[in-house]
Amino acid sequence: MQREVPVSRAWERKYPEQVVMVTTIGKEGRPNIITLGWAMPTSGTPPMCAISIGLERYSHALLEQVPEFVLTFPAEDMEKAMLLCGTRSGREVDKFQETGLSALPATRVRPPLIGEAVTNMECKVVGAYRTGDHTIFVGEIVAAHHGTREARRLYNLGARFGPLSPE
Ligand SMILES: Cc1cc2nc3c(=O)[nH]c(=O)nc-3n(C[C@H](O)[C@H](O)[C@H](O)COP(=O)(O)O)c2cc1C
Repeated sequence: MQREVPVSRAWERKYPEQVVMVTTIGKEGRPNIITLGWAMPTSGTPPMCAISIGLERYSHALLEQVPEFVLTFPAEDMEKAMLLCGTRSGREVDKFQETGLSALPATRVRPPLIGEAVTNMECKVVGAYRTGDHTIFVGEIVAAHHGTREARRLYNLGARFGPLSPE
């Protein structure tokens, strides 16, 4: 049997979900980090990916200034930094300074790599599609890096809701 529920309640059951952290940079050269759940690969050849970013986010404004980003997979021990980057805006704080994460120079784009991440992928924006209150930015992946330390990737288990929350 199935019973109709509000769409928001349906999405509460999507977990576990991947979590990524994306770096961007302003024209003046100050980098930022945003935490995202909504990211996916979209093409193998050429390698491409898509990220969905809310219209109000500082990262959205930065991507309009400099259409490049680095898609990173955070490591398990980066939970605190992931939450800070997902709850504070780069309009108010310098998230590299606040989290203590290391900004390493990328090879083909201006935003930095995150030194502690499991994987970093350098992307150039090749398209943007407005979808309601978010924009899907499509990136061509122009370089990729693996972290050299032993670390597992961080996932969002949706602890706020539990696997099957009561209605
Ligand atoms: C686990 C998690 C997943 C998130 N996923 C997204 C997402 O997919 N898209 C988005 O726009 N914001 C997402 N957010 C919210 C942003 O990370 C948050 O609004 C952030 O403070 C924006 O930073 P900025 O203003 O510096 O760009 C997520 C936050 C968390 C904690």
